[in-house]
Amino acid sequence: MALFSKKPAVQTEVDFTRLPKHIAIIMDGNGRWAKKRGLPRTAGHAAGAETFRTIATYCKEIGIDYLTVYAFSTENWKRPEVEVSAIMGLLKKYLLEAIGQMERDRVKMEFFGDLSPLTSELRELCERTREISRHYEGCQVNICLNYGGRDELVRAARAFALDCVEGRTDPNHLSQEQFGGYLFSRGVPDPDLVIRPSGELRLSNFLLWQSAYAEFYFTDVLWPDFSKEELHRAIAAYQSRNRRFGGV
Ligand code: FPP
Repeated sequence: MALFSKKPAVQTEVDFTRLPKHIAIIMDGNGRWAKKRGLPRTAGHAAGAETFRTIATYCKEIGIDYLTVYAFSTENWKRPEVEVSAIMGLLKKYLLEAIGQMERDRVKMEFFGDLSPLTSELRELCERTREISRHYEGCQVNICLNYGGRDELVRAARAFALDCVEGRTDPNHLSQEQFGGYLFSRGVPDPDLVIRPSGELRLSNFLLWQSAYAEFYFTDVLWPDFSKEELHRAIAAYQSRNRRFGGV
């Protein structure tokens, strides 16, 4: 099984007729990228935001239907205040630009996570981009913001329990599909391919429910250095896998 890009994948060329429908990315390695250059960590996040723009645009161009990125986790609040503000500032900058270009780009924007602790300005920008792009068809970009997989599951369980207590649903008939409807990702198909750059081999609370049958691609490349070519390697590795979903 090819876990790392350095090990030869069975297939190296991308077959653009068999692309994954949904790619999810843990944008990791910004801090190390900056450190290697003697720069502050915030410079790494700024470079990471540029990489996100490039990769999101490219995913749209080649016809990926859904791209989900981990921008800020429920645990990232533990970081120094200056770093948290820098990431929030980059998100604000990106959303303002996205709003300006929405008619041209027609990318549908969604946010997974509890937006309530964000500043009202950032929350409103999220709401505006979501609202303006609601009817766009084609590529959908989901930004995970104050997102954690466990938090998402607990919120879903809470909402489901409330629906049971108030008589709107029956716990005996709960199906996986119905439960999925309580998640931030409702209506979005599960990711086919989860990419984690930077050499870390863990999920870090990302899309725990949704990744049940995802294919994983790990690479040592740090997120700011992640390129279209690296994306090609990830997709080619994905295309060389035999997905059985528990069958034979
Ligand atoms: C993880 O790398 C990265 C983050 C926690 C922040 C990701 C944010 C961005 C790429 C910028 C804003 C996003 C958008 C969508 C415009 P790390 O800091 O943990 O890296 P390290 O492990 O090398 O320290």
